[in-house]
Amino acid sequence: MRAKLIVGNWKMNGSRAANAALLDGIAAGLDGAKASIAVCVPAPYLQQCEDALKGGPIAWGAQDVSAYSGGAYTGEVCAKMLSDFACRYVIVGHSERRAYHGESSELVAKKAQAALGEGLTPIVCVGETLEQREAGRTVDVVGAQLGAVLELLPAEAVGKIVVAYEPVWAIGTGRTATPEMAQEVHAQLRAQLRARAGSAADGVAILYGGSMKPENAHELLAQPDIDGGLIGGAALKAQDFLAIIHAT
Ligand code: 13P
Repeated sequence: MRAKLIVGNWKMNGSRAANAALLDGIAAGLDGAKASIAVCVPAPYLQQCEDALKGGPIAWGAQDVSAYSGGAYTGEVCAKMLSDFACRYVIVGHSERRAYHGESSELVAKKAQAALGEGLTPIVCVGETLEQREAGRTVDVVGAQLGAVLELLPAEAVGKIVVAYEPVWAIGTGRTATPEMAQEVHAQLRAQLRARAGSAADGVAILYGGSMKPENAHELLAQPDIDGGLIGGAALKAQDFLAIIHAT
C-alpha cells in the first residue's frame, strides 16, 4: 500500500511571524499522524522552514523551479538552489502558473526534469478547466499534460515523481470533485503511468487538490488511487491542515 502524502501549498501567503505560528501549530498536533507531510512555501521562506523543520517529520519544498540550471535568467530559482535549502519537493505546472505565466506542458516537463536532476521530487500538477470538463475533454487534457512529462523523462525516472490532480474549477472555489469523479481521473493517470513505467507506477503518489478540507478529506482519501492531498487554503490554518493529516 502507498503511504499517504499531505502537502500544503502556501501559494503567495505568509510572513516570518505567520509562518512561525503556523509551523508551531502544526508541529504541536502531529502526535499519531501516519501520513508523510510537506509544506511548499514561497522561496524567501525556505531558510526559515529549514531552520524550523530540520530533523522533524515535516518536509519542505518550493512552488516552482526554473527549467534552467543557472546563469543569466533574472528572477528564476534553479533546482540546485532549492537543494541548497534541503528541499525535498517542488511543485511544477500548478494551474495558476499555467494560467497566469503561460507555462506550457513542455516547459513543465523540463522543470520536472531539472528537479529530478538535483534529487528533488517534482509534484507535477495537472487539471482541466470547467469548460474542458463540460466538453467531455477531461481525460484528453490531463492525459496530454502528464504525457508531456512522461515523454521527456526516462522510464526509470517516472517512479520518482508525484502527480497532483487539481481540477481548475475546484481550486479555491469551495467546489470539490466528488470522490468518484476524482478517483476516475486518478485511475486514468495511474494507467498512463503504468503504460510508460510498468510496475513503478504503483509506487507513484497521485494527490488530489482543489478545496480539500477537513469535511471532505476522509472520503476523498479513502479512494484507492487517491494517495494524498495538495492543500491550498486549508493548509494555512494549523487546525484544518492537521485535521486533513489525521484523516489519512
Ligand atoms: P485550495 O485548497 O485552496 O482549493 O487550493 C488547491 C491548490 O491549488 C493546491 O495546490
